[in-house]
Amino acid sequence: MIKKALYAGSFDPITNGHLDLITRASELYDELVVGIITNPAKKALFSVEEKKEMIRQVTTDIPNVAVEEFDGLLASYVNKREFDVVIRGLRATVDFEYEIQMAQMNARLFNRKVETIFLMTSPEYSFISSSIIKEVFLLGGDVSGLVPPCILKFMAAKISK
Ligand code: COA
Repeated sequence: MIKKALYAGSFDPITNGHLDLITRASELYDELVVGIITNPAKKALFSVEEKKEMIRQVTTDIPNVAVEEFDGLLASYVNKREFDVVIRGLRATVDFEYEIQMAQMNARLFNRKVETIFLMTSPEYSFISSSIIKEVFLLGGDVSGLVPPCILKFMAAKISK
């Protein structure tokens, strides 16, 4: 039976932490969809189209990864697309409370058996977020090694505009 997993987030931009999780999750499931969602609570630097292009470029070598966009409830999208698994990353204990709340609420909303699976973020990326990377980069700091080289180029092009 083909197992389909969803890894959702705002990816503004995708980082090496996200990519690490995508790579590992792609080895666990037959199909992995990276689902871009616009989080209304956050002011995005990149458009959805730019995010799609960035994610496509950094996942081009992983054949079972696809990039999609969705809006509204994550659970509705999972129900509609019939995912078996939702992947979430845990960076530190502070993520746990928010994650368990979301996982349990989502579990109520899924219309069939869907597991939320947590992968531990690799320690070298456990302190990063898209926001901290943007902040450091916009203030001239070095974020190489924390985002793929092509994402650095996208970021440089964006701030030069
Ligand atoms: N490596 C590096 N950074 C990571 C990471 C990792 N492994 N995992 C998470 N992060 C970062 C993200 O970049 C993000 O940074 P930011 O806050 O600077 O943007 C931060 O940690 C938080 O990540 P996450 O919790 O995944 O936030 P998100 O905005 O990317 O995604 C959604 C959250 C979209 C999955 C969630 O809001 C959602 O499901 N929304 C849909 C609406 C819904 O269904 N609501 C009801 C939920 S019960």
